Amino acid sequence: MAHKRINCTINGQKLSLEVEVGESLLEMLRSRLHLTGTKKGCGVGECGACTVLVDGEAIDSCLFLAVWADGKDIRTIEGEAKEGQLTKVQEAFVEEGAVQCGFCTPGFVMSVTALAEKGCNCDREGLKKELSGHMCRCTGYHNIINAAEKAMGEK
Ligand code: FES
Ligand code: FES
Repeated sequence: MAHKRINCTINGQKLSLEVEVGESLLEMLRSRLHLTGTKKGCGVGECGACTVLVDGEAIDSCLFLAVWADGKDIRTIEGEAKEGQLTKVQEAFVEEGAVQCGFCTPGFVMSVTALAEKGCNCDREGLKKELSGHMCRCTGYHNIINAAEKAMGEK
């Protein structure tokens, strides 16, 4: 398969990588860089477990080609807590009991982080809509939406 060299920043670190042209960003993160915090759920853009930030936008990394990451700033869950200090969003998830098995959590945290950084003015219904692309098999969403509200400073 054809390869291409890309240059990007991942969690603040500049990297130059050789990737396959058909490789997804999700595969690149998990298999090549061993950043396994980003989860593979459906693999077809329906569950949100693979959400990462590309230039501040939350995207499904299973649908985003690694070659498209060239020149971009990528953030994954591994880059969020600094020196053991959770972010405000991560703290909200813990405080609201929004984590059970944790499989969906990195994706939710990245999406909520993007919303918080953009200064989203969503009310509870708006947050539900914004996060509707994420699936959770454990928590029933109530606590997750509570956490999102808390992280937005609306609670
Ligand atoms: S693994 Fe990407 S949306 Fe489900
Ligand atoms: S906490 Fe288990 S899938 Fe969401």
